[in-house]
Amino acid sequence: MKVLVTGGAGYIGSVTAERLLDAGHEVTVFDNLSRGHRAAVDPRARFIRGDLCRRADIEAAFDGVSFDAVLHFAAFALVGESMQKPELYFENNVGGGLNLLEAMRAHGVRRIIFSSTCATYGKPDRVPIDETLPQRPENPYGESKLMLETMLRWYERLHSFRPVSLRYFNACGATPRLGEDHDPETHLIPNILRVVLGQSEALPVFGNDYETPDGTCIRDYIHVADLANAHLLAMASDYVGAFNLGVGNGYSVLEVVKAARTVTGHPIPIRIEPRRPGDPPRLVASAERARTLLGWTPHRSDIHAVLEDAWAWHRAHPNGYAGVVPS
Ligand code: UFG
Repeated sequence: MKVLVTGGAGYIGSVTAERLLDAGHEVTVFDNLSRGHRAAVDPRARFIRGDLCRRADIEAAFDGVSFDAVLHFAAFALVGESMQKPELYFENNVGGGLNLLEAMRAHGVRRIIFSSTCATYGKPDRVPIDETLPQRPENPYGESKLMLETMLRWYERLHSFRPVSLRYFNACGATPRLGEDHDPETHLIPNILRVVLGQSEALPVFGNDYETPDGTCIRDYIHVADLANAHLLAMASDYVGAFNLGVGNGYSVLEVVKAARTVTGHPIPIRIEPRRPGDPPRLVASAERARTLLGWTPHRSDIHAVLEDAWAWHRAHPNGYAGVVPS
């Protein structure tokens, strides 16, 4: 298939582009490199540097290629930043997303696999979280993703789009070539590995007084390679609608730290800090729907396997993509 991957220079987009190319698909990566990395773009892909917020940029990407599907990753994705600068999230994620949908419509492309998030659920009434729970985002990031999901439902109804929204839980891990490099880095596993690399002295643990067995927050950590596989399955299927992507069980912050100590052999000192605003105590997916309908099974999401892969990548790339020459 001919596939357009927006945000294909970012963390999950680059890994998915790599998997698509391995599977023999023809890939065009579209990315403005504001958060992504040129070195993360697979050399087998056609690369277009462009910005979704500029309608002409995304229109041009469709010229001369008849895409079978669009995989839409390009977005800002920091919860904290979205609380400070909501306008960025509505402009980029919603406005940019609308430009993409309109370019697709103009070119008769109707299959879209959209990167959504468990942040669209907000604080869930119960866990595990299945797709029928109400979506009540608690930050502009989650709201912006929900707004695009809503737009997709209307485009499905009124413009014959065939959208799939994949709601990721906590993406983590790496492939040998591609890993997680955000600036600023706010995610737990890269921050743990910064301590191992000597780039920070101790891991801040944001709160140990939650209503969880050890007092720290529980998350469902899903390997980025398993997320990538779900996109290929969704793309090949005829399904429309939303799927949660997680393992179905969670680890606390302290459990992840303990596993990282085992994998790296480093003591990883911690420092207890106040709760981070907006962190729900427990987010765990029910991924039954993806398993049953898409035949998706996570293979690499055991927490030790996740940490081994993340550690291998961070050890080989202690400064992330800085200094990595695009091939
Ligand atoms: N944490 C720490 N110390 C750190 C970093 C994180 O204790 O240095 C804790 C957080 O407080 C949280 C857990 O580790 O309890 C996981 O935090 P992450 O920042 O790695 O991930 P989040 O669960 O906050 O965020 C993820 C995705 C978002 C998504 C969100 C939904 O990265 O895109 O889940 O809640 F929106």
